[in-house]
Order: sequence, then structure tokens, then C-alpha cells
Amino acid sequence: MSRAAAVIQEDAQYFAPAGRIPYYPLVIDHAHGSTMVDVDGKEYIDLLTSASALNVGHTPQPVVDAIVAQVRKMVHYTPAYMYHEPLVKLAHRLCELTPGDFPKRAIFGLTGSDSNDALIKFARGYTGRPNIVTFVGAYHGSTYGSISMSAISLNMRRKIGPLLPGFHHIPFPDSYRGMYGAGEPNTVEEYLAPFKEMLATYLPPDEVACVVVETLQGDGGLLEPVDGYFRALYDLCKEHGILFAVDDVQQGLGRTGTWCSLEHFGVEPDLVVYGKSLAGGLPLSALVGREEIMTSLEKPAHVFTTAANPVCCAAALAVLDMLEGEDLLRQSTEKGVYARQRMDGWKERFASVGDVRGLGLSLGIDIVSDKVRKTKAPEAALTICNRCFEKGVVMIAFGGSVLRFQPPLVITYEELDRAMDVIEETLQEWEDGKLADYEVGGQGW
Ligand SMILES: Cc1ncc(COP(=O)(O)O)c(C=O)c1O
Repeated sequence: MSRAAAVIQEDAQYFAPAGRIPYYPLVIDHAHGSTMVDVDGKEYIDLLTSASALNVGHTPQPVVDAIVAQVRKMVHYTPAYMYHEPLVKLAHRLCELTPGDFPKRAIFGLTGSDSNDALIKFARGYTGRPNIVTFVGAYHGSTYGSISMSAISLNMRRKIGPLLPGFHHIPFPDSYRGMYGAGEPNTVEEYLAPFKEMLATYLPPDEVACVVVETLQGDGGLLEPVDGYFRALYDLCKEHGILFAVDDVQQGLGRTGTWCSLEHFGVEPDLVVYGKSLAGGLPLSALVGREEIMTSLEKPAHVFTTAANPVCCAAALAVLDMLEGEDLLRQSTEKGVYARQRMDGWKERFASVGDVRGLGLSLGIDIVSDKVRKTKAPEAALTICNRCFEKGVVMIAFGGSVLRFQPPLVITYEELDRAMDVIEETLQEWEDGKLADYEVGGQGW
């Protein structure tokens, strides 16, 4: 038995299945930059980036050095009781890089999910209003609060209720398909109509604390909003004193080429949640927002013993230095444009490529079985991912049929070319019917 097979067998015996979205029998031994090596020595280009949690790549030297230096000084002391420098420096940096020319404060968590819970608490606490509005297809996390915000997977909600009350979901303004299976996208007004109807009939606007958006709806299939939607939504929120918040856990910190992905849309958030890439893979998340909101809860309304761990904060400071010092936001934009140029050609060339979309290095390739009807083709997408994996490119599909192209921002042009060569060749194999009998197990969401 290979080393990988032995690990996977033991995993199946001791690890609870709810903790994984099973994809590939990949047991990673070590990784650097955009390359991962499995326990049997095979190399892969990483286009998944630990679910976009490694924007600065695997084991970058400055981050590794910062972690080691901090570990030697002090591993932890809870910020609930004492102070430490890395926390203060990081809070300061995050307040400065978050859009909005007004005083801000930050608070920390361990993972994106719990900072979304913080968002719920502060939005309710500040406004005194109980309801939160999010989007169908959104994924905000797996704690009780953040899964109550989410509306993406029955298995994520099944058997665990009752969830937190006060959550309402509206359609995401998808710029490719329309609402309720319509082939064409709706207009801004049409997309806003269900929310306006809610506010006019059964959800009093003065009882809505907050609307939470993902700028590109990540796990929902990297959906892009129609032009002008976020501006119109923002104006509607402000008209009713509703806070406008961004869950930037997946799209933030350079993924789309900006610090905060809302910068693309010309409105300023009241609250932003960061996570995933913040500490280069170490557990850390943050909620950053307007000072008056972030000071609306009294101590000790939101404390975690191990949040803002100094090692994680030191790693995060090194991540931010890297993003800035190595110009990785610009690189994300430029590499994204480079990849898009080639991928846009796939839309013309392949019947199965319905759409290519995204910003920076947050790209999605929508695989369809009927280009005119835009029919999702989940099996095709899964088959293409599996074949790419066999050829050494790690990529998954989300939103049913969308290939997730989110490499580390440090990926080289040579690696980008190699990865795209593999995807292109595999799309051709699919079109030629060469993968018709390809075996794929029940993987994915
Ligand atoms: C937009 C978004 N928010 C929140 C989360 C949850 O973050 P975490 O898994 O770190 O708790 C995710 C994870 O995929 C995400 O994509």
C-alpha cells in the first residue's frame, strides 16, 4: 500500500466525515510557493490555495521567519487579559488598509466563521435591530451564526437546527444567469425587487441591522454581480439606516487585486470580515469596522482565549508586508488579466465553457452542457478537475459546475502557463469525448 493510501485508510477510520468535502486522495507532505508535493513524491501546481487561504503562497520565507521568531519569544497570552505588540500593530494596519475615511477598530477571531459571528453581534448591538439579510448561495461559515447567514448546502444545515433566528436571504445579482434558472441576468431593479418587497411587506426596515455581501459570491460559483447593483443596494440600505457589511474572507487581501474587494464597486463598507489568507494559513480572522459600531458592545462581549495569538498576528504582519512589499495586489491584477486573455479564448473554442469570470486571480470557468441555456454540467466539471489532478494540477469545482481558479498570488507566469496548458488540454479531451468513461467517485460539495 502507498503511504498516501495508508494515511487515507486511517483517516477514514478516525476523522469524522462532516469535516471534509472529499475531492482527491492527495496527502500533502510539503509545499512551497505554488507547488505541493505529496507523501509519495508527486508534484502538483496548487490552484486551490487551501481554499484561498494562502495568497502569499506556501511557506514564504518572510512569514516562516516571522512565525519562528515569535514562537521563540512567546507562543501565547490571551488578549482577553493582557496586551501584546503583534495584536496592536495588526489591528492598526487592518484599520488603515480597510476602505473608509473614518475611525475604525478591529477585533479578532480564529477563523472566518467566528468573525462573521462577531459581525452579527456588533451589527445587532449597534443598531438594536435583530434581522440580517444575506444572499442565496452565500457561504459565511460553519459556526451557528455563520451557517445561519449561509444558504448554500442542505447538508450543512440538516439535523442541526434550530439555527439562529433573524436571517433572510435574497437572490445574488448573478451577471451570467438570472434569478430562478432564467438564462439571462436580471436588471439591477429586478434583482433588488425581492428585497424591496420584503421591506414593504413583512420585514420592517427599522428592524434590519445589516446586509452582508460577498462581492464575488465565492463558493456559490464565483458569481459576479451585475453592474451598479452594490451601489443601488448600498443606497437602499442607507435610506433605511441598515449597515452594509462585506464578508471578504475569500475575496479579500489581494485575491481580486485590492485589499478589500469592495474597492472595485465604489462603496465603503461599515464592517468587513477578513480571514483565510490573513495569517498565511495560521488560524486568524478579523472584523474591522466603523469605530462607533465596534465600540457599541461592552466588555467582555466578544473574547476568545486563543484569538489574536501573537504567532498568528506576527505571521499576518509578515503577510501584509509581503502583499505590499512584493506588490502582490498589482501582480494579482496583472496575472488575472493574463490568465483571462487565454481563458476568454476557451469560451469561443469550447462548447462546454459557458463563461469565464472574476477579478484578479479569483477566476471561475463555468462548465455547461448547453451554451445557449447555460445548463450547468457538474459531472463534466468534476471529470475535468479529476483529470487535471491526475496530470498534477489541483483544482476543484464549486457552484455545481464552476472550475475554481485561485492560485497563490506568487504563482509564476511559467506555472500559470503550465496549469492552463493542462486545463486547456483536458477541456479538449472532454470535448473530444475522450473522458466519457472516466471514473469519478462521489466528490465535491
Ligand atoms: C466568503 C467566506 N466566508 C466565510 C468563510 C468561512 O471561513 P472559515 O472556513 O475560515 O471559517 C468562507 C470559507 O470558505 C468563505 O468563503
